[in-house]
Amino acid sequence: MMLTIENVLDQAGLRRIREIIDAGPWVDGNETSGHQSRLAKRNRQLRQHCDEAAEAGQLVLKAIGQTPEFIAAALPLKVFPPLFNRYAGGENFGNHVDSSMRQVKGTEFRIRSDLSCTLFLEPPEAYEGGELVVQDLFGEHRVKLKAGDLVLYPASSLHRVEPVTEGARTACFFWLQSMVRDNGQREELYRLDRSIRTLSEERGGTDAVVMELTNLYHNLMRRWADA
Ligand code: NI
Repeated sequence: MMLTIENVLDQAGLRRIREIIDAGPWVDGNETSGHQSRLAKRNRQLRQHCDEAAEAGQLVLKAIGQTPEFIAAALPLKVFPPLFNRYAGGENFGNHVDSSMRQVKGTEFRIRSDLSCTLFLEPPEAYEGGELVVQDLFGEHRVKLKAGDLVLYPASSLHRVEPVTEGARTACFFWLQSMVRDNGQREELYRLDRSIRTLSEERGGTDAVVMELTNLYHNLMRRWADA
């Protein structure tokens, strides 16, 4: 499942994050690459572990934590510290897969990457190209969102970023380990959750059917989720 979530950041939040990261140290994007990605990747990245990345990353984590749709869809267990990248002057990231395991250097913090997220930090009219292209069994999905919007997609997908031929594309990206490992199970839970919310608005939260479906949701979580 690919899911777009709008307005994860408001204008003030977006401005604040851009102020922080734009003043930070930008380095060759291959700092975080595995062997195979290194061959395909041409971009810049805010240096990992610098104060700016930590501060802006915290703001991103806070914003997603306050976005119920994100929580419902991702069911996050552990989130890798957000990273920031920038493409300009024809830079791109060719087709690749993301590593299944990610460890924060020098720490014990490790996640299995179930979901990949890209939070767009640049208005789409400010650059040419730069679409995130994700491939799945249904074909190719091209994503270019408003600044402040986010896309969530299975980290298991082959994907790329098209060349940015004019302007610059700045984005935040991160991976997360979900409480529910299986993409299909997580998607069913999300669809059930959405249906319950719709029904609950129509009938009220204490309606017998709403209660029964809510019980079912939590019992499925008990079967499928890790905490
Ligand atoms: Ni990737």
